[in-house]
Amino acid sequence: MFVAAPIDASLKPALYAELAQQARGLLHGERDRIANAANFAALAWHALPDINWCGFYFFDGRELVVGPFQGKPACVRIALGKGVCGTAAATRETQLVRDVNAFDGHIACDSASQSEIVVPLVDASGALIGVWDVDSPSLARFDDEDRAGMEALCTVFVASLLPNHGVPTT
Ligand code: SME
Repeated sequence: MFVAAPIDASLKPALYAELAQQARGLLHGERDRIANAANFAALAWHALPDINWCGFYFFDGRELVVGPFQGKPACVRIALGKGVCGTAAATRETQLVRDVNAFDGHIACDSASQSEIVVPLVDASGALIGVWDVDSPSLARFDDEDRAGMEALCTVFVASLLPNHGVPTT
């Protein structure tokens, strides 16, 4: 198993702040969900160290369906409440899984994945949009700094879907 050197946690807030700024710039002026999700996933893929998958599952009104991502091909449909993604979607709470093998019901799309973080995406009315999922080949790759950073990053994506990206016009 590949074991990467742990990332210095003190560097994470700056990394995520930079990434959020880059995401804002990249998505600026565009509201198309697929276009923004594709560019968002590609940006995160190249910026985040020690990951082997990142991408979206969107809620189609019934279940989660894979959206734009980077990494190996993944399972297409996930029922609400199933796996890490379905749990994040059903509970509307970020799932930080330090060891996927210890998560009851984890769906292994890539056997290399050892840890995972999944952030639910919810619009202003509280409706489920989907989830943002990032996997790592290292155990305990994600911590509370990643949770805060990923959640902030996801607000940039969700805002990008709104008219004027959520910025009121005066
Ligand atoms: N591991 C996820 C499935 C999606 S893949 O990691 C890309 C889960 O348990 O929901």
